[in-house]
Amino acid sequence: MPVLHRIRIVGGAEFSCAEADPVLTAMEHCGVDDIGVGCRGGGCGICRVRIVDGAYATGKMSAARVSSVDRAAGYALACRLYPISDLLIEIE
Ligand code: FES
Repeated sequence: MPVLHRIRIVGGAEFSCAEADPVLTAMEHCGVDDIGVGCRGGGCGICRVRIVDGAYATGKMSAARVSSVDRAAGYALACRLYPISDLLIEIE
């Protein structure tokens, strides 16, 4: 069984996401459209969010969309964001 985590969007929807799945994909599978969907490949930046609370891992993301300073501040691209715990995220 996949490990599922609860993803809550500030002022928005809640959905479940498996640890192995990108948050953006899980959101789409749950029929939620709060986060913008573009390339799904870590390049366009449309799915940029800030993680307010929780532990997570990220895959390869465009440095032009999320700088190292942004990463340190909790910004990530949802199509390259993998939850390790329940997450609270904010959309800009
Ligand atoms: S959808 Fe393009 S960077 Fe995530």
